[in-house]
Amino acid sequence: MSFPDGFRWGVATSAFQIEGAARLDGRGPSIWDTFAQVPGAVASGDTGDVAADHYHRWAEDIQLLAGLGVDAYRFSVSWSRILPEGHGKVEQRGLDFYRRLVEALLGKGIEPFLTLYHWDLPQALEDEGGWRNRDTAHRFADYAAIVHAELGDVVRKWTTLNEPYCSSIVGYGEGRHAPGAREGHGALAAVHHLLLGHGLAVQSMRANGLPEQEFGIVLNQSPAVPVTDSPADVAAANRQDVLLRRQFTDPLFGSAYPDELTSMFGDISDFSFRQDGDLEIIGQPLGYVGLNYYYRLHVADAPHREPDPAKRTAHDIGVDTTQLPDVPRTGMGWPVEPAGMTTALADLQARHPALPPVYVTENGCVYPDVEGFEDTERISYLRDHIAAAQAADVDLRGYFCWSLLDNFEWAHGYKHRFGLVHVDYQTLERTPRASFHWYRDFITEARQDS
Ligand code: NOJ
Repeated sequence: MSFPDGFRWGVATSAFQIEGAARLDGRGPSIWDTFAQVPGAVASGDTGDVAADHYHRWAEDIQLLAGLGVDAYRFSVSWSRILPEGHGKVEQRGLDFYRRLVEALLGKGIEPFLTLYHWDLPQALEDEGGWRNRDTAHRFADYAAIVHAELGDVVRKWTTLNEPYCSSIVGYGEGRHAPGAREGHGALAAVHHLLLGHGLAVQSMRANGLPEQEFGIVLNQSPAVPVTDSPADVAAANRQDVLLRRQFTDPLFGSAYPDELTSMFGDISDFSFRQDGDLEIIGQPLGYVGLNYYYRLHVADAPHREPDPAKRTAHDIGVDTTQLPDVPRTGMGWPVEPAGMTTALADLQARHPALPPVYVTENGCVYPDVEGFEDTERISYLRDHIAAAQAADVDLRGYFCWSLLDNFEWAHGYKHRFGLVHVDYQTLERTPRASFHWYRDFITEARQDS
């Protein structure tokens, strides 16, 4: 495999999943703090109170990054550490934490890729309607401008949102994620307000007028494959793609929402939350797009769970995604299909020829631990997916493995471990797995070959 000069090799994390210190230094609660208190919402009643304790152990974690040899680190800022109420009073101790982190990264020659929103909305804003509410998009732009004014001299790569599909459809439609709502109209309004918030945030950061800034967004892109070539299954796979991929990529890179949304949701939504001029804001020119890939979705036509369209939740689109092919699966049960990485990248480029440069901003897997943390399955998974990414005909600028550390895997709690580094949740001790050493050596060779 050969990679262009300057290709970025990194790992990714997010604030809520690793930081802990949930009530320290003035941090306000986020929707995930609240959701984790709901009985049954998170496996084993796990919370983000301690997580991997990165808030205290960040210096040790930067040593791990340096030992790994990555030249890029993708992390997120906790909105409610900076603005405990979501807006208004700024908590300087929160900003100081991220400045220390970024300066230490730069000191090791590691470029920070900062994400502003990785799902942890301040609870105070959820109390005002959360992402259903148009004001939240403006609050997000205000927050982005504050962080950017503070760190724009040391951070160049700014990602607005991570996987807005999950924040909207999974959080407000399926209810598997915070805030745990099961709605139709509310989830679709959340999609729109997230995208609007993205565009407004890019505008507000650009308005700071700092040089050499690049703005981007990170999207999860699981291609949908029909389980048969029957028209019904093909149409079902198309609905799945509209819901998960095109609902986001079309307005971002093509200036319009897919028409199919109207036939899919016409009865539960009049789309009145969309206002004139919004699409121009959403379609801001970007410096890059991040793609997260883990698996493909295999889709069959199925009856809607709720026959009355007016009562349907937003993910009830008449599909069955449980019929998996006979391929190996990860510890999460996700089918291992590296070819989907190539398709996900190629589809994005084919649909949007003027696409900005691309980074794979997440890719990784979970397997049960074995003696000595010899995670050979993870090594194969990573190697095959990196090769599949490289095979796609796109302007690919970097690859980030998810994740540096074991962390809070959302509704699964701490059960599933994605780390190149094992975390003992009793002692918080970090132990690199075999995959950590493999990735280090792989990066070294890739740089020599480029
Ligand atoms: C995508 C999300 O961005 C991340 O937070 C999550 O842990 C991984 N997928 C694995 O599910």
